[in-house]
Amino acid sequence: MPWRIGEKSKKEQYYRILSEFMLQQTQVKTVIPYFNRFVKKIPSLKSLSNSNEKTVLKLWEGLGYYSRAKNLHKTSKILIKKYNGQIPENYKQLKELPGIGDYTASILLAIIYNHPRIGLDGNVKRVLSRIFNTIPENLNSLFKTKRNGHLAEALMEFGALICKPKDPNCYECRVKNACAYFSTESKKSYSKKIKIKLKNYDIFCYLNKNNKQMALTKSNNLGFLTKLNLPKIKERYKKNKGWKFLCNYKNFISNKKLDINLYYKFSSQIPSQYNWYSLNEKNEFIPSFTKKIFKRVLHLYQ
Ligand code: ADE
Repeated sequence: MPWRIGEKSKKEQYYRILSEFMLQQTQVKTVIPYFNRFVKKIPSLKSLSNSNEKTVLKLWEGLGYYSRAKNLHKTSKILIKKYNGQIPENYKQLKELPGIGDYTASILLAIIYNHPRIGLDGNVKRVLSRIFNTIPENLNSLFKTKRNGHLAEALMEFGALICKPKDPNCYECRVKNACAYFSTESKKSYSKKIKIKLKNYDIFCYLNKNNKQMALTKSNNLGFLTKLNLPKIKERYKKNKGWKFLCNYKNFISNKKLDINLYYKFSSQIPSQYNWYSLNEKNEFIPSFTKKIFKRVLHLYQ
């Protein structure tokens, strides 16, 4: 991220306060281009304090919550005047600055001064409550590291990239063995064995003798594979007069295992809901289920 420059300097402080204002209520990927444009035009806290508000608002245009821009501008003037252009290393003084609440004060102290603080945003709350099954009242136990700033940022990033709200990537997670959520989830999925149903189907292929073509229809009514171009498919139930047996094979579809008997008939007459398709067709409207049938049927022409 462009605001992580990893040096103890006024530039770092400026990049950090600007990005933290932008990141209030806004996602990282939205902020990045605005941040880059902003620092190109206004490269330092000093130049921000000397800019007029219109310029600042123009650079903020599209990011929303414009009071953030106004507050940042006011704060930059106070920092230059009262704090010699430095961000104070003091929670109370930080909170007195326009636009800085508990969250931003905590993150700035962690990131710039390595204080043992974190910003409890949605991502971080979710991560902590998954790991500990609750948000710990006393967060001091977390800070067994000397890299407090890194911990604060890592928690936010971990929540955004791995421990996501809907589909957490527990597979790649490095703390899963200590995680309450993972232990209950893995127990659940272990007890919920996926049942694979075996179903028997007959598939009937109308073939054109001269043109290497098969007739397909979207009119099969199967509950799965609906509205796709397929040959005629029926549940297996009796002998199939007039059709020649070609082969038997298995096809997995989601939680089903299909046992398929494939039949064919050379015919120039086809029912009205069918259309001819070339067996060599690279057509995107042919599902892979049907392409597998094409492959088998092509042997009949050799
Ligand atoms: N959200 C707020 N501050 C952040 C930061 N420094 N890194 C990633 N996400 C954030």
